[in-house]
Amino acid sequence: MTQMTAIANTEMAAVWDGEEGDGWTENADRYDATDRYIGARFEREVPIEPTDSVLDVGCGTGKSSRDAARRAHHGSVLGVDLSSRMLADARRRSELEGLTNLQFLQADAQVHPFEPAAHDLAVSVFGAMFFNDPAAAFANIVRSLRPGGRLAMLSWREFEHNEWLTTIFETLAAGRELPTPPPGSPGPFGLADQDAVANLLVRAGLTDVELLRLDEPIWIGSDVDDAWAFLSAMGLVRGLAEGLDKDTKQGALDSLRDRLAAYETPDGVLMGSAAWLITAQRPPVSRN
Ligand SMILES: C[S@@+](CC[C@H](N)C(=O)[O-])C[C@H]1O[C@@H](n2cnc3c(N)ncnc32)[C@H](O)[C@@H]1O
Repeated sequence: MTQMTAIANTEMAAVWDGEEGDGWTENADRYDATDRYIGARFEREVPIEPTDSVLDVGCGTGKSSRDAARRAHHGSVLGVDLSSRMLADARRRSELEGLTNLQFLQADAQVHPFEPAAHDLAVSVFGAMFFNDPAAAFANIVRSLRPGGRLAMLSWREFEHNEWLTTIFETLAAGRELPTPPPGSPGPFGLADQDAVANLLVRAGLTDVELLRLDEPIWIGSDVDDAWAFLSAMGLVRGLAEGLDKDTKQGALDSLRDRLAAYETPDGVLMGSAAWLITAQRPPVSRN
């Protein structure tokens, strides 16, 4: 097994190469299914050529890496992540599918010494929001792109636009003031602020920076029971319910479960979400 290179994001490494990554791995199919509409949009909006060399930042259990590897069938994909368990699952899944143009590496994308100018495209599906030094991280990722290479990422927009999250927080607050992570801090809203993201990417040397609003639903489960089985086991839900006394906690969980009925549709339990599709390019080399 390859030794992991230096990590700068030690807090995130502890979280993701620990309980969060383990929980995610155990429910990988469910997490992949939540993104089915957002992921389909990403695939439609982001072209991948058959010969492309693709870097997948924060690849997790590798769904986006496998999707890219199928499309870049004469090219290659490198998926990097902090979580050893998620990567082990990513390798297992790509072997099962017989994909041979795809490699996974445990590394901190902020500081890993990627081969310079090696990639035509860097993608990230909700995996680039956690850097403690985003300027350094994106400069590092940009160095790994060839001149003219592209960046395409999904990230969450602000908390208040994400119905699936506001519903969880509202019900589990149970009278408390629950703090939400501010936009810009490492976490789900690390790339939520449109102007800050545009500035960040321009400063990292990118051009043609565009942020497109994606308002696709997220799929929580096939029906209320199925959705509740998933939600009630989620680290976020368990964490928010902590600290409540037994009866209040049960009442808060019941009220979250009750709220799910309003989102049940023939296609499953669908809740509103708000993401950015962020695209940019490393400038091509000048011909002068
Ligand atoms: C929300 S999960 C998304 C995983 C995957 N892209 C998906 O859509 O299922 C975020 C992922 O980013 C990874 N990650 C966070 N910070 C990272 C860093 N500095 N370098 C590499 N991976 C990182 C985490 O380990 C985690 O797997």
